[in-house]
Amino acid sequence: MGESNEATGGGARRHGFGIVGAGVIGATHAEAIAMIPSARLAAVADLNPGRARELAGKHGCEHADSLDALLARPDVDVVSVCVPSGLHAEAGIRAAKAGKHLVIEKPIDVTLQAADRLIAAARAAGVAMTVISQHRFDPGPAELRRLLDAGALGSLVLGEASTKWYRTQGYYDSAAWRGTPDLDGGSLMNQGIHYVDLLLWALGPATEVTAVCVTRAHQIEVEDTALAIVRFSSGAVGSIASSTAVFPGSPQRLEVHGTTGTVVIEDGRLVLRALSGEDPGGPGRAPDPPAPAAAANAAAIDPAGHAAQIGDLLAAIDVGRPPAVTAEDARATLEVVCAVYQSQRSGRTITIPVRPDPQAGP
Ligand SMILES: NC(=O)c1ccc[n+]([C@@H]2O[C@H](COP(=O)([O-])OP(=O)(O)OC[C@H]3O[C@@H](n4cnc5c(N)ncnc54)[C@H](O)[C@@H]3O)[C@@H](O)[C@H]2O)c1
Repeated sequence: MGESNEATGGGARRHGFGIVGAGVIGATHAEAIAMIPSARLAAVADLNPGRARELAGKHGCEHADSLDALLARPDVDVVSVCVPSGLHAEAGIRAAKAGKHLVIEKPIDVTLQAADRLIAAARAAGVAMTVISQHRFDPGPAELRRLLDAGALGSLVLGEASTKWYRTQGYYDSAAWRGTPDLDGGSLMNQGIHYVDLLLWALGPATEVTAVCVTRAHQIEVEDTALAIVRFSSGAVGSIASSTAVFPGSPQRLEVHGTTGTVVIEDGRLVLRALSGEDPGGPGRAPDPPAPAAAANAAAIDPAGHAAQIGDLLAAIDVGRPPAVTAEDARATLEVVCAVYQSQRSGRTITIPVRPDPQAGP
């Protein structure tokens, strides 16, 4: 295990971070790490050495010539994996074998087989792992969790997760991996997955998925629009909508409806809380949500959620508890995304657990 934490002057332990992948989200990880008192960015690696140098220079740390060089550093005990999605397991397995704890960007990978290899490698190495789902740490979901745990919504009936965003063809053309089945997946695997994770987190495990996917506005090999209905093991039902083709884009939205209450979240903020016996104009009504920056801009990412999740992983490592977002949570979310794709390919309802698809692809 990477136990090379550096002792600080005050006696507190600081975790040394390495980032692999110095692109859009690698920069967010560097900002998030800088926000955490118990973390320190030690080095950055990227296939493109100029990118690694630039990000390292901005944060006053070193750049490593390769992932192997990053993993060989004793001052790195946690690795943030920020490479394209279909390379997450490969990079994560190498880091786990080197004894490093893991922060994996979402999705955990683009296939369940790759996710399982990564989970097995982390277990075998005895390292901790979290997979980024930063919106669980937003204020709206935190309030929803409190209400669900208190039973305030009654029996859950219906949940809806929607990501109606706009991405130009230029976004997909900006890197060769974007919009490819093996390295990215479509709008649901990349963008919609955040609120799929929140939907499952709120309503519990899914048992069945029926979906259609279309590509309406982009020259890509994957869907830019997905629509699914979901059954949950509780008996509740739900829907998922995800698109990168709708102009101008709107806030990401989660609705959770139960027999005694409804909560609606937009872009991480609770915008409606209506509970039986509670004045709907009273406490709990949040002010208007902020402008939906991420709806139309892939680089508009607030590092606060990442900082909260990475800080949680470090606290989990320090006291030996599981992190708030586990690898198994991320696998369950990926499984629903894979079920959507299988349903589109087969024209059938897919039951969970998902069986390997004879028609290949994620
Ligand atoms: N949590 C979020 O809100 C969020 C937002 C954006 C992206 N992401 C995720 O982050 C990942 C990266 O997305 P991005 O937008 O930063 O992509 P990007 O293209 O901007 O950056 C990826 C970087 O990885 C480097 N790279 C590719 N293969 C490599 C390898 N084998 N070894 C080392 N470096 C390698 C590339 O040179 C590039 O600099 C994706 O999995 C994506 O889903 C998450």
